[in-house]
Amino acid sequence: MLNEREVYFNGEYRRWDKANVHIMSHSFGRGSAIFEVIGFHDTPDGPAVFRLDEYLSRFWKSASLLEMEPPLTQGALQEAILTLVKRSGMKSGFFKLYGFYPEISFKILPPQRKFQVAVCPFSAEEALGQPLESAPRSVTAFVSRWRRLDPQTVPIEAKVAANYVNGMVARMESREKGFDYAILLDTQGFIAEGGTESLFLVHKGRLMTSALGTVLQSITRKTLLEVAGTMGIETVTGLLNPGALDEADELFFSGTSAKLLPVRQVGDRILNEVPGPLTRRLSERMAAITSGRDDQFRHWLFPA
Ligand SMILES: Cc1ncc(COP(=O)(O)O)c(C=O)c1O
Repeated sequence: MLNEREVYFNGEYRRWDKANVHIMSHSFGRGSAIFEVIGFHDTPDGPAVFRLDEYLSRFWKSASLLEMEPPLTQGALQEAILTLVKRSGMKSGFFKLYGFYPEISFKILPPQRKFQVAVCPFSAEEALGQPLESAPRSVTAFVSRWRRLDPQTVPIEAKVAANYVNGMVARMESREKGFDYAILLDTQGFIAEGGTESLFLVHKGRLMTSALGTVLQSITRKTLLEVAGTMGIETVTGLLNPGALDEADELFFSGTSAKLLPVRQVGDRILNEVPGPLTRRLSERMAAITSGRDDQFRHWLFPA
């Protein structure tokens, strides 16, 4: 099935199994591929991509942090993506957008600055490897021994493949310890985020998350803070001590693929009502927004 899926590959449409680069390419050998995972949703106007402009701006920012030169304009890539989503015939799903160096390279510096672009659509089931109904509705989490990448070592705001070893080793530790997800502290010992998710805490009705600086500039995080504000929910971003995990009334991870994923256990601590009332309210509002049932935020949807 996936093999017949069409992929946008540097200006042309190719079969999934023909979207390849050489093993000696710079992006394979050095992890220099920048990427985005972006969702599209079934709406009354057909499939629509959620906050495409924001994801593309972040992609451009990743490129600029790594001195990579896009081969096309943001507007042209937006058009190519919307066309691909339409051609896929899928009502909802995700796509992974890549910027990569396909050139063969023996050196650490990329052979050139201009990168190539690929866009690969897939369904939630294909990503999960199982039917959606069997996806977990809540998860267990623990504080990892691995710290979130320090912003003084690499540009952590670049969504680049090489940075993702950080989330990978944290998730491997979760698996070893029998937890679903990991919470990473920053190198100062404050709560940062999950391996590939943001982390939110609810305490006495306030929605809290780590300040930007040591965490990815997540589009879902930004969206949730904006939406919560319009719902009269007080939001706090700042330095959070790990002790806050013991006091939180609700905890959830968030991200484009995770959406809002409630945490039912953190370390030894079992949380009572999961999802908690505020998590549930936010989840329902997000579902209404992404499915085009919320007039206030309809401008966040880009119909294909
Ligand atoms: C480290 C990290 N934090 C947070 C997120 C969530 O970001 P977004 O909401 O933009 O998907 C991701 C997504 O991949 C991530 O890798």
